[in-house]
This record gives sequence, C-alpha cells and structure tokens, in this order.
Amino acid sequence: MSEVYLKFGGKIIEELSQKIPSTLFALNELIKNAYDSFSPDVTIKIDPLRQTVIVSDHGNGMGEDDIAKLFHISRSSKIYGSLISQDGIERVTQGSKGLGFLAAFKFGDRVEWVTCKNNIRSRFSLKKSTLVDKEDLSDTKINVITDSCERKGTEIIIHSSDRIIEELLEDLKDDRMIEKLVATIQDESFEIKVDIENQKNKYSTGRLVWLCCINRLQHTKPLSPDEFMPYVPSPVFQAT
Ligand SMILES: Nc1ncnc2c1ncn2[C@@H]1O[C@H](COP(=O)(O)OP(=O)(O)OP(=O)(O)O)[C@@H](O)[C@H]1O
Ligand SMILES: [Mg+2]
Repeated sequence: MSEVYLKFGGKIIEELSQKIPSTLFALNELIKNAYDSFSPDVTIKIDPLRQTVIVSDHGNGMGEDDIAKLFHISRSSKIYGSLISQDGIERVTQGSKGLGFLAAFKFGDRVEWVTCKNNIRSRFSLKKSTLVDKEDLSDTKINVITDSCERKGTEIIIHSSDRIIEELLEDLKDDRMIEKLVATIQDESFEIKVDIENQKNKYSTGRLVWLCCINRLQHTKPLSPDEFMPYVPSPVFQAT
C-alpha cells in the first residue's frame, strides 16, 4: 500500500477571489464579516490617490486563534442563520463557508489586516500573486506582528490599482448599487458607510453616495450642510 497527500495549488486563491461575480458581492462579504463580529458599523473608504480600499469596523476583532481560523480556508465556525446575542444585541449569523475574506482580493493584490482584540493588536498581510505562484499552499507561513491597542475592531487595507478603483467608483455611482449594498443587512444596530476620499468637500457623486447610505440607514432627515464634517479616522488603529 502507498499513500498520497492532498495538495492545493495557489491558483485556487485566484479562482475563489477573482471569480467573485461583482463589486456588490465582494463588498457584501466584507460587510457581513463586520456584522458577524458585532460591530456597530462598517466603513468602506476608497482613496483614489493612495489607491487603497479600506474596510474598517469596531467589532470583536481577531486574536491569535481567530487569525488561524481566518486562514483555514473553506472552514468556518459560524452557523448560517443562527441567532447570537452579545451585550443585549441579537444578530443572525451571515457567514458559514469560510471563504468570504478572500473577497478583499477582488480589489487588490496586497491585503493587510490590522485587528485589535483584548488589547492586543495584530498586523499581518497577504499578497495574492505570491500565493497564486505557489505549487502548494499547505505550509504557507504568515507573520503576525503584535503590539497593544485600546479599542477593538478590524481594519482591512487593500492595496488596489487605478483601474480597479476607477471601476469601483463607477459601480458606486449607480444608485441601485448603493441601495443593494445598504440593503445587505437591514438592522438598526448596524450602519454601513461609504467614504470616498478627496470628494468629501465637493458636491459630487461620491459625496452623495456616502450621504445616501447614512441617511437611509438612520432613517433620518437629510444631513444639513453643518453635518458635512470630514470623516475622522477611528482611534482604534492608532498606536497607543
Ligand atoms: N471583520 C472581522 N472581524 C472579526 N473576525 C473576522 C472578520 N473578518 C473575518 N473574521 C474571522 O475570519 C473568519 C473567516 O472569514 P470568512 O468571511 O472567510 O468566513 P465566514 O464568515 O466564516 O464564512 P463565509 O465565507 O460564509 O463568509 C470568520 O469566521 C471570522 O472568525
Ligand atoms: Mg464571512
């Protein structure tokens, strides 16, 4: 008798991330992860100058064990549809497949995570092209750098390209797209924000996109000009 072992070529990552059908679908996956982590909000910040797409939340964050789970591809500890309570808030679990995080690679080749849980901040990154070139992914080592932090949450920094950002902004110009994005999760305890850098102080489509989402989710009157405040990054990810 002889034995053989399963191996996984890096191209599987390309299959699972690039083939995600649309911007909407990909953003939804990242939004759902923020929701499942009991964050009160998620912000999708697009910076055309820096060519980054940053998805940040103030949810439970990830510790060492959670990071290991994140990279256990196609395995999830979540049960879709199960009702979970935390601090008096109830949420219906959205994830279950253990694949959704790969959606980040739809917007760029290099993805960095900065996540804070129990006052420990962990930073790690992955480059899709490096993974795709590998013959076998099984033993891929990912370095996690830790230091301290004060507030919990996760920031996913996607290093994108002019072309991808252009396509993303084009998609976000469509009101129906925004409606669908915001409708991903309808829960008063959760807010979805879209922030397009450099367009904030202009009367532009990008600005309208952002206002549109906040207004719709909060079910409030339209924001007055006084409320057109610049977006202030959360202190979660700043050094302590
Ligand atoms: N923003 C986040 N905050 C906290 N934990 C996260 C976050 N994003 C991902 N995770 C952790 O990483 C795991 C993997 O995420 P991923 O989206 O790939 O799978 P899933 O949510 O379990 O299932 P699905 O593929 O159906 O979305 C999650 O189960 C969760 O433990
Ligand atoms: Mg998920």
